[in-house]
This record gives sequence, structure tokens and C-alpha cells, in this order.
Amino acid sequence: MNYQQMTNKELKAELKKRGLKGYSSLKKTQLIEYLSTGIRPLNGTINQANCSKMRVKELREELKKRGLKGYSSLKKTQLIEYLLTGIHPLKSTQISPKIAESEIRDASSGSIGYSPTLFARTIEELPINQIVSGDCIKIMRSFPDGVFDCCITDPPFNMSRKKGLGWAFSSHVTMQEQWDIFAQDDYFQFTVDWITEVLRLLKTNGNFFVFGSFHCIFTIGFILQSLFNRRIISQIVWYKPNAQPNITCRMFTESTEFVIWAVNNESKKAKNWTFNYEAMKAMNNNKQMRNMWEIPLTKPSERKYGKHPSQKPSAVINRLILAGTNEDDLILDPFSGTGTTAVVAEQHNRRWIMIEKEETYNQIAQQRIEELSNTLFEDESENDWQ
Ligand SMILES: C[S@@+](CC[C@H](N)C(=O)[O-])C[C@H]1O[C@@H](n2cnc3c(N)ncnc32)[C@H](O)[C@@H]1O
Repeated sequence: MNYQQMTNKELKAELKKRGLKGYSSLKKTQLIEYLSTGIRPLNGTINQANCSKMRVKELREELKKRGLKGYSSLKKTQLIEYLLTGIHPLKSTQISPKIAESEIRDASSGSIGYSPTLFARTIEELPINQIVSGDCIKIMRSFPDGVFDCCITDPPFNMSRKKGLGWAFSSHVTMQEQWDIFAQDDYFQFTVDWITEVLRLLKTNGNFFVFGSFHCIFTIGFILQSLFNRRIISQIVWYKPNAQPNITCRMFTESTEFVIWAVNNESKKAKNWTFNYEAMKAMNNNKQMRNMWEIPLTKPSERKYGKHPSQKPSAVINRLILAGTNEDDLILDPFSGTGTTAVVAEQHNRRWIMIEKEETYNQIAQQRIEELSNTLFEDESENDWQ
């Protein structure tokens, strides 16, 4: 039976005939996987909550399917941990939590020598179109090299303060998020660690778009340009016309963020990166798209499933995806928050993998993505979002 040639309806009928259940919300690839293996693919998030509901037998089957070995003597909690991180819970000390100096030097020489693929999954086993819940560095270390066409990400900016400032006339409070507080040296090492993994996972000449404010953009730029010798194509300035006021009145009102656009190759060797010039021009009244984008803060309608202190507007991500990726490309966002990258990627038929460690944000992301599959996608023009 050639499943690829069958319609979704026929695949579902076949599943029904075999007495297999719970297929109504699955996508075609998942329906085929279900028919081929008899094991229901995890729908949406691989997270603690979903895994906790599974029986030990099902957890073992899921691990087997992903090519992960040595699980037979593990307890349920360990099986879940193994499934969530891809790292064997009893062997995890084999992975150094920090990168040694020599490994950083290897990476900056162009060919990334640091290849912690100890528990690598194959391309087929990657959790495509899923949100993976957990620490992105650990999770990225379990993915194979060179599989992503593009990475779009908005990492912690290290701008939070333990004591946030409030303003009597506004609900705005400066950021106080635990996930955004680092000592300066720790932030540098953390940034080296996650960028090392992103560069390893991206294809050669793959696009890398990373957000930042003045708090972190110089650190990120230095790491990409000087430590890893990657080609920087452009810096996009996102101007927020409705930015919150400055409550101290001691400085200019912060109303911009930046996106560094880098290409995953040595500066002099980078070539053939994706840039959809015509699409950008068409979006800008047939004039060349500039690197200063005036786009207001995230609209309330995009935050209806819950709030995140730094959720990006879909309109900003929309431009990045249309400019820097093509249909069916695989996009990574290791700091996915409320899943804005996935929401826009879905709308443009791009594939994606999101990683986020806060379960509350994953639930918001899940609802935003599920809402898309319930509504027929209409090609919203950017102006509708602005
Ligand atoms: C700036 S926010 C991203 C917001 C996102 N662009 C959106 O539109 O919702 C950064 C996110 O990274 C997550 N995070 C921080 N450290 C992480 C880590 N080590 N692994 C995975 N996620 C992490 C935080 O919980 C936070 O949601």
C-alpha cells in the first residue's frame, strides 16, 4: 500500500479499519507514521504533561522509535527525562555542561570541531513541527549536524533586574524574569554555548536571524563575528512607534530592537544564502525593502491565550520568514516563548522545531498553533498586522 499517494481521508479510513484511534488531529506525515508503526505519533508538544499520561510501555516504544537505546532498566521518571532531552539520564554526566577553551578555538577556525552528537537522532527522528519542552542547549546537543535551513530566535537579553521599576500611570514594569537574569560572565558563556549549537545544526550558508537590544546585541555580534568568523549580512532595526515611555526621564526612550542577520559560513566563503528580494520589494510598494522596519508592539489579538513579557509581533517574524526562507524549509527557534516563529512558519508552509523551557509559554504556543489548524489560513497582508 503506497501511503504517500493516499489522501488524508483514505489514511484515516485505513487507521479506523485497523482499530487505531486518536488520529483526527494528525497531519499527513503523522497519519503515515501511525499506519507504518502502529504507534500514535505525539501530537504537538513533547512535554512533561503529555509524557506523564503515557504508560511505561508506550514511553519505551517512543524511545525505540527515536533510536534511543539502553532504556529497559529505567524508571518512568527517567524514561520521561530521556524522551524529553534525548540524553540518557544515567549517562548525562558524560556531556560537559560548559565548552572547553579548545572547543571554542575549533569552532572559530571555521569547521566546528565541537560536535557533541553523543545521543544524536537521525534526520528522520527529528521532532518536526513540534515544540520540545526543556533546556535548549541540552536538547540541541541531541540533534544531528546541518539539518536546519534557518534559525530565527529571540534569546534572553539579560536586561531583567531583580527589582523591576513600575510607573503609576501605566501597567508597564521593567522586566524581572528569572530566565533573563545572568551574571555578565555567565551570559557570555551561555551565549557561546547556544550559538555553538545553532551553528552546528544549521546547514552551510543557512540563515541565522537573532534578536537583541543594546543589552546583548554587542555580545552576540562579537561572538558571531570575532569568535566564529561568521558572515554578517545585515542588521535590521525594528522601530516600535508605540514603545513604552521611559519612566526615569534620565535617557532617551528605548524604542528599537535589532536583528542580526548572519550566514552560517566563514565571512569570506559565505555564498548563495536565501534572500527573497522580489518578495520583499513587493511587500514594500515595489520599492527596495530597507533595514529599518516600523512595526508596532504585539497586538492584543496575538496575546489572547496568555501574555509573555517579550512576545514578538507576527509582522516582524513574517518579514524574516518571507525574506530568508522558502517553502518546506526547516526552521529552528531554540527560545520559542509563545511560539510566534512556529505560528508564522505554519502559515507559510515552512517546517519548524521550537524549544522552550517554560511550560506556561509552551501551552500558549500550543493553543496558538492549534488555532491555525482550526481556521483556514488566509494570506494576511502585513498591513493587517500593523
Ligand atoms: C525573549 S523570549 C522569546 C519570546 C518569543 N520570541 C515570542 O514571540 O514569544 C525568550 C524565551 O527563552 C526561554 N528560555 C530561556 N532560557 C532557555 C533555555 N536555556 N532553554 C529553552 N528556553 C529558554 C524563556 O523562557 C523565554 O520564553
